[in-house]
Amino acid sequence: MKIIPGVSTQVLAARIATELGGKVSLCEFKRFPDGELYTRVVDDVKDEEVTIVQSLIADSGMIDLLQLIDAVEEAHKTTVIIPYLGYARQDKRFKPGEAISSRAIARGISFAGIVDRIYIVNVHNHAVLRYFDVEANNLDAAPLIGDYIAQKEIEEPVIIGPDEGARELAKAVAVHHGFDYDVLEKKRISGDEVRITPKEVCVAGKNVVIVDDIISTGGTIAEAASMIKAHGANDIYVACIHGLFMQNATIRILNAGVEEIIATDTIQSIFSEISVAKLIAEELTR
Ligand code: R5P
Repeated sequence: MKIIPGVSTQVLAARIATELGGKVSLCEFKRFPDGELYTRVVDDVKDEEVTIVQSLIADSGMIDLLQLIDAVEEAHKTTVIIPYLGYARQDKRFKPGEAISSRAIARGISFAGIVDRIYIVNVHNHAVLRYFDVEANNLDAAPLIGDYIAQKEIEEPVIIGPDEGARELAKAVAVHHGFDYDVLEKKRISGDEVRITPKEVCVAGKNVVIVDDIISTGGTIAEAASMIKAHGANDIYVACIHGLFMQNATIRILNAGVEEIIATDTIQSIFSEISVAKLIAEELTR
């Protein structure tokens, strides 16, 4: 199997290849003077089984993925791994006339019948999977966060999700190690501002790990951390699957009294302590 790395997912692609005992294929990426992207898969993939690994961060991630899919059209079998699927939060029409962005993305990826199957790590909403015209599956990295917390030997951690949408994630992080878990109540005011409604959570004197699928501007986590601190928590940690860390997210989170920020490598950053490479490699060899 040939592993084809997208421009934003080189490290993870290399880690997956290592897990599988192979190498990543050489690709060329460049931008033309007018800003257009150029992508070339240098290795010959004709009649080969290929796996493209590309996270969809911002618009260029999508263009890069579409180009890679087109470039491998002569492959025998094509699997696409999308460690982070951007646009997944627009998973339905909230106002008349809106694009269902995740559906538009899914339709684009499944174009021309080149892709045989798709894997996404912790898609924001499982309902998005049905928008793809080919087999699309979710891979759950939450237990890896649970293992990381256990291995750090944080004393009796309480896992807290910032809103109801994070309940399943908090549970999946907590359950294998028997940690307590709960969720807060969040209302979004604007793109980078949220309000967390005070709620009686038993965090006084406890170590807390706030978990969320995505950290973007850090507004959600900073609000949650401040509230939990005010309720007398001891050490506060933050863990996410997809760490975008836009604008001043890191400062906001650290200023809210957080000890450590932990993320996976679906989006590579200095906080990517947990790798999803093994999770993906195991699925590919299943
Ligand atoms: C929202 O539904 C997501 O699960 C995250 O809570 C959200 O994307 C975090 O965004 P931000 O870091 O900008 O508050």
